[in-house]
Amino acid sequence: MKKLSVIYWSGTGNTQMMASAISKAASEEGLEVNVMSVDKADKNAVLDADIVAFGCPSMGAEQLEEAEMEPFISEIEQENIAGKPMALFGSYEWGDGQWMADWEDRMKKAGVNLIDKGLIIQSTPDNDGLERCEELGKKLASY
Ligand SMILES: Cc1cc2nc3c(=O)[nH]c(=O)nc-3n(C[C@H](O)[C@H](O)[C@H](O)COP(=O)(O)O)c2cc1C
Repeated sequence: MKKLSVIYWSGTGNTQMMASAISKAASEEGLEVNVMSVDKADKNAVLDADIVAFGCPSMGAEQLEEAEMEPFISEIEQENIAGKPMALFGSYEWGDGQWMADWEDRMKKAGVNLIDKGLIIQSTPDNDGLERCEELGKKLASY
């Protein structure tokens, strides 16, 4: 059974809702899913997984959350993650998704295999948003 790690930061729960929907769908499709907030994660949660999904909302000014997610991503970038299948997701409010475009570029430079475009959802995911999360979970499972 392939292992998926879903590692997220969420201040007000929107990105956490996305993480839960992605995890549930991936698990139903047969992946062994390990979902955790980034403060509970260490680099082995990434290195030991077959597939990784990272979630973080747009914070700062179109940036990753700086106290926990940014240091974790910086740490992971130093590791050998070339070829690792990965998906990115997160919630935003008023911006144009620039934080996600920048995050995708960073991960591509680290050599990861982004298996889909970063999934961004404005504010709290509605039913349509949750369906998009479930689709991503299924896509991860079919990878
Ligand atoms: C300090 C702070 C900075 C934010 N900066 C941005 C931003 O630059 N662009 C944007 O679209 N939304 C920004 N937001 C809005 C959040 O991305 C949005 O509320 C999101 O749904 C929060 O997700 P969460 O519930 O997972 O924490 C910011 C929110 C906070 C609290």
